[in-house]
Amino acid sequence: MIKSQRNLFNIPDDVAYLNTAYMSPLLNSVITSIDGGARLKSQPWRLSIPDFYEQVDQARLLFSKLINVAPQNLAIVPSTSYGIQTAANNLKLGKKKKILLIENQFPSNVYPWKRLANKSDCSIRFVETIENETITDSILREMDESCALVAVPNVTWTSGKLIDLMALRERCDDINCFMVLDLTQSAGAMQIDFKKARPDFAVVSNYKWMLGPYATGFLYASPENCFGVPLEEGWITRKDSKNFSNLVNYTDHYEPGAIRYDMGERSNFALMPGVIKALEQILEWGVNNIEETLRVQNILLSGRLEKIGLAVTPDEERGPHFISAKLPIKRPKNLLKLLEKENIFLSERGGFLRITPHLWNNENDFDRLINCLSKNL
Ligand SMILES: Cc1ncc(COP(=O)(O)O)c(C=O)c1O
Repeated sequence: MIKSQRNLFNIPDDVAYLNTAYMSPLLNSVITSIDGGARLKSQPWRLSIPDFYEQVDQARLLFSKLINVAPQNLAIVPSTSYGIQTAANNLKLGKKKKILLIENQFPSNVYPWKRLANKSDCSIRFVETIENETITDSILREMDESCALVAVPNVTWTSGKLIDLMALRERCDDINCFMVLDLTQSAGAMQIDFKKARPDFAVVSNYKWMLGPYATGFLYASPENCFGVPLEEGWITRKDSKNFSNLVNYTDHYEPGAIRYDMGERSNFALMPGVIKALEQILEWGVNNIEETLRVQNILLSGRLEKIGLAVTPDEERGPHFISAKLPIKRPKNLLKLLEKENIFLSERGGFLRITPHLWNNENDFDRLINCLSKNL
């Protein structure tokens, strides 16, 4: 168990911030790193050619350790939508017609598939979740021979319900179906075994559980998917781009691996040091320790929420870092506003109160949440 790390963040004592699934705060160390990067850009004569390469490679390396893949399979992207669009542009679905998503899936993992379906003869099937069946079973039921691709998260963004990636992997192998993952609501707080899940593409935005700056993220491309067409034809992803004076000797060759998918201006001098610092801190804590700490904390907090009458998602059905409770029918319509007035921050998504604490929270935050909810429900 990791004790509360509140001192590493800039969070006033009277703020109970329980909303990581919306946006994490930045660590103080991350702010200092970003500040250093911005100052470097303020004096461009201090910038050197390695500054365009070394930080991104360091970020790739650190993230590769987090998910246990080779760094050359990682691209730097600004968002989940960017990564999913890259996957949608490059996976050749062949004669199969069905693209499987789940209902109420986050739009960044929906619109790129809609575009693909609109310009081809594929169609999207949104898997409905039904009472008394796990989401995994609902997806598996739809995974037949006509299924070309399944593009899902491993934890739903509304209620934190778990999807069993290994079960999907097994079925994908049986029916020869692509797997694309949006891990934005889990990477950084939950261990994910890439060696076993073996997605074709997977994407993570950094600004939630990765504790990183907004507009940064990673795209994983499996080795066989590292030869596709990038969204942008940048110069820095091309072979020998380090030779700045020779850039007009145009080349058709990219740097090896997933680098070709890097976004334009990926060498963000201000934000990249922040990405690195956040990753260093997560690796120092250990994702397994973060996961275990949040698991224990959340089981206790879920129990307390249940005691005050909320119908919480059972522990075994949800990601260890997520708590969700059905929004009670009899509740003040402005419940979130009432909580905010008391400096308690959480979200309402898809009919659920979504409560997603992290290591900055402490017992005082949890007590205040319970007291305020009991007073208002
Ligand atoms: C599951 C999931 N994926 C992705 C995102 C963010 O997507 P993007 O980086 O495209 O803005 C969110 C934001 O809430 C999310 O919940």
